[in-house]
Amino acid sequence: MAATLEDRTGLLTGSRPAGSVSVFEEYLRPNVYGRRDACLMSNNPIPAIRPARRSDLVALVEFLATAPHSEGATDTPGAPVAGNLANRLVAVYGGHITGAIHYTTGPGYTAAITPPRLGSWDEDLAARLLSAAAARVRRKHRAKLIQTLVAAQGADAMGAALVRAGFNRLATLITMRRPVTAADLGLPVSDTITWRSYSRLRHGKFVATIRATYRDSLDCPAMAGLRTAHDAIRTHRQTGRYRPKRWRLGIIGHTPAGVALVSALPGRAELVYLGVVPEMRGHAVGRALLNRAIRDAAEMGAPQMGLAVDAGNTPGLRLYQAEGFRETRRRVAYFVPKENLDTLEA
Ligand SMILES: CC(C)(COP(=O)(O)OP(=O)(O)OC[C@H]1O[C@@H](n2cnc3c(N)ncnc32)[C@H](O)[C@@H]1OP(=O)(O)O)[C@@H](O)C(=O)NCCC(=O)NCCS
Repeated sequence: MAATLEDRTGLLTGSRPAGSVSVFEEYLRPNVYGRRDACLMSNNPIPAIRPARRSDLVALVEFLATAPHSEGATDTPGAPVAGNLANRLVAVYGGHITGAIHYTTGPGYTAAITPPRLGSWDEDLAARLLSAAAARVRRKHRAKLIQTLVAAQGADAMGAALVRAGFNRLATLITMRRPVTAADLGLPVSDTITWRSYSRLRHGKFVATIRATYRDSLDCPAMAGLRTAHDAIRTHRQTGRYRPKRWRLGIIGHTPAGVALVSALPGRAELVYLGVVPEMRGHAVGRALLNRAIRDAAEMGAPQMGLAVDAGNTPGLRLYQAEGFRETRRRVAYFVPKENLDTLEA
């Protein structure tokens, strides 16, 4: 389930790490950054890329408010910017900011880099910013899963910059939604399946089952081996409000058959992961787990349920469509493959 990659980083929810201050909030504090920064002087013919400093604040806020929307960027000019200066890099040329990029990091060794914003489109500069941001999250935060989401429209130009920066295309991610109604409280819960909720004592069982469901998965198969099921659970736990009661392990006989993990996001329940072990696929277990998850969403009082799925995952897509989920957004995910992790250029 691809939703996890984006949710915990705030790319999907617009959330930002606790305690961080947006540059716009800082900008509004009186008399602190009233002086236009003089440190942005540079005579280099190529923009220098470096971490943003407090002294960049005024120029950075102005740049972000006016810089044209980069091809494929998922945010909009002037939109409130999540994160603080510590997670930003700027490109500086002739004393002016010509590009900016920011990232968020999280548990499970994940990092999400937003597509860079540029004064004017420049593939080389976009690639350098992406590469510098990836090198930084690798070096400073030991990130193993470094990801960028690009709007499907415009993904070609940004995609070329990402590939130059050492990223690979991971998948086209389809975000889906379904209304949840009182009728869903009556969805049948399979009685051939024994349901167990997540607890610390069952952590090992959940990890082993999730790991088994990754086998021959069509959902972001390129991610296989990038991180462990244990890391993935840590990431899932950070997605929205974690509800261990709504993390279900389905057991048939004595064999774990699959999991359905539901968390609460603002305004909706999110299916953060659904998976069936290979031996049990094709026997309506996925449908039973999904129905259990939709019923959980109804019991949580959520008006909607959301998820994200790899566009190449035909079994997953068909299952979700059959149960009333409809596409709301399409984005392309890129990630840094294992072999490039340690050769990223700072
Ligand atoms: C996707 C997955 C959960 C489906 O589980 P499953 O138990 O095999 O699915 P079910 O037997 O309950 O089938 C339910 C519906 O899914 C669809 N489906 C299941 N397998 C399919 C396949 N191989 N090809 C096409 N559609 C398929 C069908 O619409 C099916 O309904 P139908 O039988 O009435 O035609 C399972 O393949 C899986 O765990 N894959 C690996 C992890 C994964 O992709 N998770 C989803 C992440 S978004």
